[in-house]
Amino acid sequence: MRSEKSMKKLPDETTEKPVEQVSSKTATRNKKPPILEFENVSKEYAGGFVCLDGINFTISKGEFVFVVGRSGAGKSTLVKLMIREQLPSAGKVLFDGVDIAEIPQHEIHLLRRRLGVVFQDFKVLPSKNVFANVAVALEVVDAPKSQIKDIVENVLNLVGIYDKAQSFPAELSGGELQRVAIARALAHEPDLFVADEPTGNIDPESSAQILDVFEKINSMGVAVLMATHDFRVVDRLKQRVVRLEKGKIVSDVAGGKY
Ligand SMILES: Nc1ncnc2c1ncn2[C@@H]1O[C@H](COP(=O)(O)OP(=O)(O)OP(=O)(O)O)[C@@H](O)[C@H]1O
Ligand SMILES: [Mg+2]
Repeated sequence: MRSEKSMKKLPDETTEKPVEQVSSKTATRNKKPPILEFENVSKEYAGGFVCLDGINFTISKGEFVFVVGRSGAGKSTLVKLMIREQLPSAGKVLFDGVDIAEIPQHEIHLLRRRLGVVFQDFKVLPSKNVFANVAVALEVVDAPKSQIKDIVENVLNLVGIYDKAQSFPAELSGGELQRVAIARALAHEPDLFVADEPTGNIDPESSAQILDVFEKINSMGVAVLMATHDFRVVDRLKQRVVRLEKGKIVSDVAGGKY
């Protein structure tokens, strides 16, 4: 069944996307409207293990948020719930006002296009060069070739690996591979960029470059959520930090306090 609600809020590319859709329910004077809301979300895995318990938080449009916590605290599970890789056992995850659990299967791609997602392992295609790795994200939506070329060149420039466009993954460093993954995730101009331990497999210097890219993405108005347990990363950016402990939010503070 087609959901009127999700159709209304998750338009396809042919529909003009409102830049700032102010929801009267949540907008406050100084704050931008939410792009993502967790409402009393819990996640219980098979066997009764409660991985997340009563999670409430909001990410505003254009905001930058770190999610920190020890191994096993529930960071990756939180990310999986955001991108509908998993469904909550209780509560709601709203993307731009839409309960993502209600989006019918044939419309999930509309949600995924508004999300840019990268993981610790770079998930690049080894048989394709850098250009083609990014272009695949656009070929699935049947964009014209000239448009694909423009977009791919743009995002490769943005992440600083335009000069490697013809290289293959085996010829790249970890930091470069991650930037390929970021470029691919940016190709659809997402509203929310989600990164789960994106610097987990790379050296500190390359991590700093990755962070610069995230800051750049954020300065373009894209909300960024980054799950990490790398305190150097968090210290450097001085952004909001949500801390998870054993599946609960134990603090949520501005200014990069790890
Ligand atoms: N599919 C699953 N089935 C059962 N338990 C799971 C599943 N996925 C995760 N868990 C458990 O949930 C808890 C949280 O896992 P999660 O991967 O979200 O933690 P994390 O904070 O991302 O940890 P890390 O920093 O090591 O990546 C862990 O105890 C984990 O074993
Ligand atoms: Mg994890």
